[in-house]
Amino acid sequence: MAAMKAGRHLQCLVKRRDRALWGARSLSALPQGSIASSPTSSTPSGHLISLEHEYSAHNYHPIPVVFSQAKGSSVWDPEGNKYLDFLSAYSAGHCHPKIIKVLKDQAEKLTLSSRAFYNDKFPVFAERLRSIFGYDMVLPMNTGAEGVETALKLARKWGYEKTKIPKDEAIIVSCCGCFHGRTLAVVSMSCDNEAIRGFGPLLPGHLKVDFGDATALENLFKEKGDKIAGFLFEPIQGDAGLLEIFAQSKKILMIADEVQSGLGRSGRMLACDWEDVHPDVVVLGKALGGGVIPVSAVLADKDVMLCIRPGEHGSTFGGNPLASAVAVASLDVIIDDQLVERSAKMGEDLIKQLIQLQRQFPGHIKGVRGRGLFSAVELNGAALSPVSAYGICLKLKERGVLAKPTHSTIIRLTPPLSVSVYELQEGVKALQDVFEIDLPTMLQTRPQNSAPHTPHICDRCGRKLYRA
Ligand SMILES: Cc1ncc(COP(=O)(O)O)c(C=O)c1O
Repeated sequence: MAAMKAGRHLQCLVKRRDRALWGARSLSALPQGSIASSPTSSTPSGHLISLEHEYSAHNYHPIPVVFSQAKGSSVWDPEGNKYLDFLSAYSAGHCHPKIIKVLKDQAEKLTLSSRAFYNDKFPVFAERLRSIFGYDMVLPMNTGAEGVETALKLARKWGYEKTKIPKDEAIIVSCCGCFHGRTLAVVSMSCDNEAIRGFGPLLPGHLKVDFGDATALENLFKEKGDKIAGFLFEPIQGDAGLLEIFAQSKKILMIADEVQSGLGRSGRMLACDWEDVHPDVVVLGKALGGGVIPVSAVLADKDVMLCIRPGEHGSTFGGNPLASAVAVASLDVIIDDQLVERSAKMGEDLIKQLIQLQRQFPGHIKGVRGRGLFSAVELNGAALSPVSAYGICLKLKERGVLAKPTHSTIIRLTPPLSVSVYELQEGVKALQDVFEIDLPTMLQTRPQNSAPHTPHICDRCGRKLYRA
């Protein structure tokens, strides 16, 4: 009941703030309602969830909320309940008017064309990426994992051609705790047990290093350097020392997976900019599609990119005109609306509020971290078990805020880059209410003698993982 009341209060406040957020556009035409508890099968949401459960593979375990409309930081379910979306399709915000206009205009002219022909949007997109990021060339794909897969193939090919790695012996080094998607090549270097158990045999040619362990890395170089083609990393794990070691090596490609951290999310255009590092290869995704359609891209200079020749790699729809037009519009919005600077500034505010929250609940919150609007709250798993990040996110949803649980103890907060000061405060307030009001009840009603959260130990290296 308290949750519903607080939800209604939040909804009123959010409605007031909305009027200012997207300028002249009014939200009064959009559905409204109170924040409901979890949908039941008698609601349209409940019915849709049942349908999906019945007819779709169970490869995700979503928070039970159904999106049917969205604008900026807000989404609505079919019942008209409104939520603040702190995952936001990892983008600038839902249905940005400028991006949607480009999408509609382009959809009426030309949508998909294969790379068997030229189209009039992809060259413009490629040139735009060159002018923003300074890499000679782009290889367009659709999803993040495809982008990473492309970068891996590129590194192997480059290694064989340019540094004369013996045939079929190329090695890619990646970091413990990394996440780069779920294709077979990509999970072959994953530390995510769930993504690799039962999918063997994995691809050979991968080695791991602990982010931060420069000694292990140097040893790896001494022992296997002549076979290492590339080093793949998520720059948000941030370690300038380690990156420098790779930067000095002209014989190993430094590949930054900026699928999630790139395009302003971390408060810089690329998260690598925090370390003043210019990787040889950059993979972009998620926000490149402006929260509208999937677009990914791999950037590199000619001496690397031209190692791939016609027929050796591709994707029927990578670089299609609709995706290219949307991606150019998304880049324009990021630059014109100064979303990188905004992410940095709002991210500072967010982290201050989260630190405050941790001070208030030191027994529940083990740590908070973030750069720009890319932040996470780590729960004290031992004290809260069996209450998990998923359970907290369910309560957060009841209070009108959507966030993503990662593993059992991490709540990821990545609000849209267009999020307002007010929305940030509301999001953190909802989290505070969950800790203050909901959590005591959740802890009281937890089963006696419940098993503690088992730490996430990597099958490969036996290390406890730290990724957020
Ligand atoms: C860093 C990183 N790389 C790659 C991917 C895979 O992207 P996709 O799910 O679009 O294949 C993700 C997805 O979360 C990611 O966070």
